[in-house]
Amino acid sequence: IGDNAHRIAVIAGDGIGKEVVPEGLRVLEAVASRCGCSFRFDHFDFASCDYYLQHGAMMPADWKAQIGGHDAIFFGAVGWPATVPDHVSLWGSLIQFRREFDQYVNLRPVKLMPGVPSPLANRKPGDIDFYVVRENTEGEYSSIGGRIFPDTDREVVVQETVMTRIGVDRILKYAFDLAQRRDRKHVTSATKSNGISITMPYWDERVEAMAALYPEIRCDKYHIDILAAHFVQHPDWFDVVVASNLFGDILSDLGPACTGTIGIAPAGNINPERRFPSLFEPVHGSAPDIAGQGIANPIGQIWSAALMLDHLGEPRAAALVLDAIEAVLARPEYRTRDLGGTASTEDCGKAVVDALMAG
Ligand code: NAI
Ligand code: MG
Repeated sequence: IGDNAHRIAVIAGDGIGKEVVPEGLRVLEAVASRCGCSFRFDHFDFASCDYYLQHGAMMPADWKAQIGGHDAIFFGAVGWPATVPDHVSLWGSLIQFRREFDQYVNLRPVKLMPGVPSPLANRKPGDIDFYVVRENTEGEYSSIGGRIFPDTDREVVVQETVMTRIGVDRILKYAFDLAQRRDRKHVTSATKSNGISITMPYWDERVEAMAALYPEIRCDKYHIDILAAHFVQHPDWFDVVVASNLFGDILSDLGPACTGTIGIAPAGNINPERRFPSLFEPVHGSAPDIAGQGIANPIGQIWSAALMLDHLGEPRAAALVLDAIEAVLARPEYRTRDLGGTASTEDCGKAVVDALMAG
């Protein structure tokens, strides 16, 4: 391993996280051998419910020092509600990473793949291929507010949306930079400035200011209600969709849902300045209902590896992994049960490696 090896903190977590992460690593090892890049994988057992049962906390006190110096975190899934309540496991691990490592971009590709039926009629691979860029640290998900006169007729509940110039501009800049690297060079902003009359006009204003710095990028905006409808009726319209925390949360589930199974969807929680490691994970959770059977779909984890490669400055490796995923999904014999096949998690992961080495 050379000095230029990417240092990756690997956290498998719970349930099928422990089954799909090894397949992601298998693919990363293979692509490294093809592309001449290299990785150093450091495995951590915290951020899991087993760790909690042994130590009474999801993570050690010095977790930040242990993984804060890595180039990225390759994460499986956390949660095992039978033994640890979900709010304890999630807030004690994943949410800490996102906040403490200032992962202010939540990035989700929305791409219709071969072999994956879309719930939208008459859509074929190539028709849907865009990104949802969600602001991940402020906006509607603030902790400013409170409740007064509880349990009385005068009960008042307030929760404030917080938008900062720094916070809005940095997520917009990320979206425009991403669009700049893509063929269609198109940014769509999710707004609701007709109803939310203070913060959303501000958001629109910052979008206009940012768009002025990127004259080659086409920029449009839709109110969130009709935008949600367009995701379903015209998914081909979109290239990069940028949204505040709440709107992005909704769109980043709706988008991938329009392209099929949760088993293949990836996500990045990104600190673009690289002051802290970014975290790459499948969208799905620990799937207790199928854990331990070796039948989980590893594609979401493998696609997350491709997102990580892009972030690490290995676009060729990322493209090879994505091509291999598409080649495997097109072949019924390598599909896992959620896609109507009989392949095991390992069969599918190995098939991606074979496609990668052949491609
Ligand atoms: P889930 O995503 O784990 O499972 C939902 C359904 O999708 C289940 O029927 C499952 O079998 C299926 N599924 C999920 N991933 C699959 C895969 N790769 N291949 C085939 N089928 C797959 O969501 P659920 O059941 O709501 O949550 C289970 C646990 O995971 C909870 O503790 C929850 O808090 C946690 N969770 C963690 C996340 C994370 O680590 N980022 C995200 C979502 C949930
Ligand atoms: Mg969500």
